[in-house]
Amino acid sequence: MNIAILSRGVSLYSTQSLFKAGEKHHHLMEVIDPNSCTLAIENEKSIVKFLGDVVDDLDAIIPRIGASNTYYGSTLVRHFESLGVFTTVSSSAILQTRDKWTCSQLLSKAGVPIPKTILGFAPEAASLLTNFENLPVIIKILEGTHGNGVILVETYVSALSTIETLKTAGIKFLLQEYISESKGTDIRVIVVDGEVVAAMKRQCKSGDFRSNLHRGGSSEKIKLSYEEENIALRAAKAMKLGVCGVDLLQSERGPLVLEINSSPGLEGIETTTKIDISKKIISYIERNKSY
Ligand SMILES: Nc1ncnc2c1ncn2[C@@H]1O[C@H](COP(=O)(O)OP(=O)(O)O)[C@@H](O)[C@H]1O
Ligand SMILES: [Mg+2]
Repeated sequence: MNIAILSRGVSLYSTQSLFKAGEKHHHLMEVIDPNSCTLAIENEKSIVKFLGDVVDDLDAIIPRIGASNTYYGSTLVRHFESLGVFTTVSSSAILQTRDKWTCSQLLSKAGVPIPKTILGFAPEAASLLTNFENLPVIIKILEGTHGNGVILVETYVSALSTIETLKTAGIKFLLQEYISESKGTDIRVIVVDGEVVAAMKRQCKSGDFRSNLHRGGSSEKIKLSYEEENIALRAAKAMKLGVCGVDLLQSERGPLVLEINSSPGLEGIETTTKIDISKKIISYIERNKSY
C-alpha cells in the first residue's frame, strides 16, 4: 500500500516510528508536509499537489497535525477524504478535539464523565466564579497544548484578574473544577480501532501540577481498571477517532476524561510501555484497506 504520514517534521520520533513500522510491513511510506501542499478544486474534483506533483496514488494517510497547523492540516485531510483515501483520523475529529470546549461538549453529550467545566464567556468575570464553591480552580485556554495554557488559580483575586486579562486579550478559555485528589498525575491511554493498546501514568515534576512529559513529568506503565478502560473506549468512540490519546484523571467519583489528542506523541508512551504502537496503527490501516 502507499501510505503517507502528514507531518511537518520528518525527523520527529512519532513520524519516524510510523514510517519504519510501515516499511517493515512492506508498504511504500512517504512523509507529506502539509505546508508544502497546494489544494485545488477544479470541475468539482479535489486535487492535492505536494511539491508541485499531483498526489493521486495514496491508499491511506496518517495525519500528525500539530496544534499550530490545525486549519491547514485538517483541510488537507478533508481533501484526501474527498479523494476516497483512508485516514486514521478524520478532519472533523481533528477539529473537534483541538478545541477543549467543543471536545468537552461532545464527550458529555455521549455521557462520558468529565470534570465540571464552564465556558469562559460572560459579561462579568465575577459571575463566572460563582459557579465554583471552592478554589483552586483551573483556567485553560481552548487551544493550549503540552500543558501550556493551563493555569492553577488559588485565590479569588488572581482568578478574577486572570479572567479579565484573558478577556481583554480576546483569548477564549474555560474554567474547570480542580481535581486535587489526582495529585498531579494523569493517565494517558492510547486507543487504536476501538481497543486500548497502551497506557501510562504520568506524574508532574515537583513544584508543578501539570503531568505533561513536555513539562518535565515522569511516566510509568500501568494496568487500567475495567472502568478506566471502558471510559477511554467510550471517549474515543464519542469523538469517532480510530487512533487517539485519551487523558484521564483519577477522581473521588471515578475516572474523568480530561482531553483527547488526535495526534498523540508516541515517544513517551512507546518508550515507557515498550509497546510498538506504530505497528498497531499500520495493522489498523491494513484491516480497513484491501490490497
Ligand atoms: N481539572 C484539572 N484538575 C487537576 N489537574 C488538571 C486539571 N486540568 C489539567 N490538569 C493537569 O494539567 C495537565 C495539562 O492539562 P490538559 O487539559 O491536558 O492540557 P494540555 O492540552 O496542555 O495537555 C493535565 O495533564 C493534568 O496533569
Ligand atoms: Mg493534556
